[in-house]
Amino acid sequence: MSPELPRLLDYALALAREAGTHTARHFGKPIEVETKSDLSPVTVADRETEELCRRRIAGDWPDHGILGEEFGTVPDRGSGFQWVIDPIDGTKSFISGLPLYTVLLALLKDGKPILGIIHQPILDETVWAGVGLGAYYNGSPTWLRQQADLSKAWLMCTDPTHLLHEYPSAGLELFNSESIIRSWGDGYCYLLVASGRADIMNDPRMNLWDLACLKPIIEEAGGIFSDLEGNPGLGSSCLVANPSLHPTVLRLFRK
Ligand code: IPD
Ligand code: CA
Ligand code: CA
Repeated sequence: MSPELPRLLDYALALAREAGTHTARHFGKPIEVETKSDLSPVTVADRETEELCRRRIAGDWPDHGILGEEFGTVPDRGSGFQWVIDPIDGTKSFISGLPLYTVLLALLKDGKPILGIIHQPILDETVWAGVGLGAYYNGSPTWLRQQADLSKAWLMCTDPTHLLHEYPSAGLELFNSESIIRSWGDGYCYLLVASGRADIMNDPRMNLWDLACLKPIIEEAGGIFSDLEGNPGLGSSCLVANPSLHPTVLRLFRK
């Protein structure tokens, strides 16, 4: 563990909370929604919040790099550190007035995530982890719950049609084998899994800014993080679950 990690984690938590407070100023009020080239929605709240994070990081860690969803990449200046920001994950929830959007923040060292934060400012819920430091939910150590039976597991997703389009047979089998399925997932459902209130979260369409914070959180909370092919790195999809359920779900995707 890097001796700097606890200090970086404190810094990241304060920044995620400041960013969350900024999103809350716009939350639940009429807001103009633009459509990006990938057809996803974006608002002034997404942009302002990422700008705030970038300003703070550039001022406080001038040799660190930054990757953010809305404003691209600033390379690091030899430090090997890169902050990864999704200022509002779950923009569709945000513009619908659902307090299920989150601020996602991660720090990579030489391409590997060393800390991650998921923060929901309206409900005032936060999970965070530093590699080797454990995972925490609102200040207390947290672990995934140990449901081993797929038919009793609670499955979370963001948009079920994405899974059914991209993995039709595995998707259908998975949806048919669960006792409880809930959507409107986004980052908030990884927070639910990490805090022991749901069992499986998956998403076939992910970017680095959606994923980077999740790996340290899920792994430090005793879970397994991979993509839907089973690769443990940061790819373009995601599957998280406890060590009993994860291989069971993965088998459906490997048939
Ligand atoms: C979206 C969420 C969602 C994922 C989409 C992302 P946004 O992020 O992370 O879970 O399925 O691919 O675009 O646009 O709300 O930050
Ligand atoms: Ca996102
Ligand atoms: Ca976003």
